[in-house]
Amino acid sequence: MSPPYQWQWQWKLLFLFIFLQTLTLSASQPIKASPNPKFPCAPPYHNLYPFCNLSLPTASRAHSLLSLLTLPEKIRQLCSNASAVPRLGLPEYLWWSESVHGVAAEGPGVNFAGPIESATNFPQVLVAAAAFNRTLWRAIAAAIGVEARAMYNVGQAGLTFWAPDVNLFVDPRWGRGQETPGEDPMLAEAYGIEYVRAFQGGGGGVSGGRIGDGDGVGEKRVMMGEESENESDDGLMLSACCKHYTAYDLENWGSFARYNFNAIVSL
Ligand SMILES: *[C@@H]1O[C@H](CO)[C@@H](O)[C@H](O)[C@H]1NC(C)=O
Ligand SMILES: *[C@@H]1O[C@H](CO)[C@@H](O)[C@H](O)[C@H]1NC(C)=O
Ligand SMILES: *[C@@H]1O[C@H](CO)[C@@H](O)[C@H](O)[C@H]1NC(C)=O
Ligand SMILES: *[C@@H]1O[C@H](CO)[C@@H](O)[C@H](O)[C@H]1NC(C)=O
Repeated sequence: MSPPYQWQWQWKLLFLFIFLQTLTLSASQPIKASPNPKFPCAPPYHNLYPFCNLSLPTASRAHSLLSLLTLPEKIRQLCSNASAVPRLGLPEYLWWSESVHGVAAEGPGVNFAGPIESATNFPQVLVAAAAFNRTLWRAIAAAIGVEARAMYNVGQAGLTFWAPDVNLFVDPRWGRGQETPGEDPMLAEAYGIEYVRAFQGGGGGVSGGRIGDGDGVGEKRVMMGEESENESDDGLMLSACCKHYTAYDLENWGSFARYNFNAIVSL
């Protein structure tokens, strides 16, 4: 049974009114987003900016993001506690996360107050390095990497970890020798290569079959490395940051600490 003609007409007008009202509202409202997003490029930002577009090469996405930042916003990215950029939907970011022999609670970028309450703690690096076994180092780093990535996925860690420590263990008084592969440059180099590649998800993209070659590690994850500049390749699973750059053998002694000691380095 259909309503009288006039009713139909009034209903249509009402619907039109509501429809127009909705359009006007959505056009005038700013994008509603969480004030403290955990991840960039989450809705409603995922379709707005080229840097969120997964179809684009990584380099183009990076250029897009940089082009959108103002100078003050760029400057506020230059410390380990980088500021959020709310207008682009970017959360704040803590670059300082530690994973020398397992995802560690030391870094402010990691927390265990969520669904993941602990991570695997592998032997100190000095001990693992003494096995002289690249397969073992790869397996350890790959396991740490998978746990670290899982922690990122649930919002309990970042994507960047300050590991491995490849400083040469030249003087035991430094006090941090146990977290390095030791005093031998060749061993430290080999350890660093295996750790970084396996941790970052090195897989099919690396030639030589060193990663993911029959050891069940890193099979699916592909690394964009020196062998391949093809931007279509998958990006990194995580980023490993070797430490420490140079002139680093003072931790905290007497009234000196590494944060304020002015090391005059002679070459
Ligand atoms: C993402 O980039 C691809 C390739 O350039 C393009 O076809 C697509 O329209 C872009 N998506 C959005 C949401 O802009
Ligand atoms: C980062 O930490 C420093 C030192 O604690 C502090 O002065 C600064 O305000 C922090 N920056 C942000 C963006 O939180
Ligand atoms: C090296 O480590 C791998 C992985 O733990 C192990 O299977 C292999 O037996 C080790 N090689 C030697 C020579 O101990
Ligand atoms: C780059 O990699 C993609 C995906 O692996 C592949 O389809 C494409 O052919 C490669 N391009 C070049 C120039 O090697």
